[in-house]
Amino acid sequence: MAEGATGLLAGIERVGMDRRRGGFSRHGFDYAEMELREWFSEQADRRGLDVRADRNGNLWAWWGPPGPNAVVTGSHLDSVPGGGAFDGPLGVASALAAVDLLRARDHVPRRPLAVVVFAEEEGGRFGVPCLGSRLLTGGIVPKDAARLMDGNGMTLAEAMSGAGLDPQRIGRDGEALRHIGCFVELHVEQGRGLVELDAPVGLATSILAHGRWRLTFFGEGNHAGATPMSDRRDPVVPAARTVLAARRIGESVPGARATVGRLSPNPGGTNVISSSADLWLDARAADDAATRAVVEQVTAAAKDAAADEGCELLVVEESYGGPVTFDEGLRGTLSAVLGDVPALPTGAGHDAGILAAEVPTAMLFVRNPTGISHAPAEHAEPADCEAGVRALATVLGHLTSTTGRTPW
Ligand code: GLV
Ligand code: MN
Ligand code: MN
Repeated sequence: MAEGATGLLAGIERVGMDRRRGGFSRHGFDYAEMELREWFSEQADRRGLDVRADRNGNLWAWWGPPGPNAVVTGSHLDSVPGGGAFDGPLGVASALAAVDLLRARDHVPRRPLAVVVFAEEEGGRFGVPCLGSRLLTGGIVPKDAARLMDGNGMTLAEAMSGAGLDPQRIGRDGEALRHIGCFVELHVEQGRGLVELDAPVGLATSILAHGRWRLTFFGEGNHAGATPMSDRRDPVVPAARTVLAARRIGESVPGARATVGRLSPNPGGTNVISSSADLWLDARAADDAATRAVVEQVTAAAKDAAADEGCELLVVEESYGGPVTFDEGLRGTLSAVLGDVPALPTGAGHDAGILAAEVPTAMLFVRNPTGISHAPAEHAEPADCEAGVRALATVLGHLTSTTGRTPW
């Protein structure tokens, strides 16, 4: 069972492969993610860990009986559409490998230790990122969550029922939260920070504020050949102008990011002038005010573009999270036990960022030589993955070596 993180990842390297997009498409409660959940439960069973699903669809594997002040580690198994192999699964595989390493070192935890798999972290299916951790912490209204719909018209409630969960019971889970003494998530780095620092492993300091907004442009569906150019209300035109505005405005706010990664003309026929077009804006910046400023400017540009084309515009905020600074006390402890590891910020969102509002939280990053993430070129070298496992095992070993009220 000592295959290490890379060996564990090799066991799932074909699950959810996306031939059309490249990379992997594994989304909350879909066929691929359910297969990965089964893989996780089996791996946990083999290690004698007690696996339970909570009422929000997150999986917990316990070393020792579940109880308060547990040290929790883990990540997620879902991906973005056409994503890489490491974002999420590396944290889960490293957690299992760290358990193996602690056992090889004859470590006996003096407080419970759990490996968690959060559901639908990327929001690739139901649109809201960190859905499992948001539900757990009460960061989304349960009835709003239950109604979220995937691209095929299936609701989250239906998908959860299909996975054997009761959608009536989703929402803040005080008991599960009371069990968490602290949370440490290991993740592939989504940038070149550690490459530039020449370090295999680092600690996270902060996450940018970020959110998602859906802009729907309503025009008039019609025939591409029979409709003169002067007689159109084509919603794709203001959508295209909004893409350019997002680029310009994102560049004008220092440190901000504005991205349109998803644009969907409806009904979507080559010879059809669309009746509407959905565009999703992902906006991020150092604080709430800067993020809101980006969104306000982009939506103002979208409104003008819609008016010029005789279209209507509807803007819906699908998710938002303010900036996160990870717990300095916990980070200080990790830094002390790991020695000289660099600390760096990230622009990527994580379940650890959601949990940070509830419990002391920290993150370990593993070097990514390409610096690319959310794409098939995302990578981590086996030696760096094992350095990550050793760092995580050292941290978990330290945090579970006391019985005091807090783990550090
Ligand atoms: C998730 O990885 C995100 O940053 O959107
Ligand atoms: Mn991601
Ligand atoms: Mn991730």
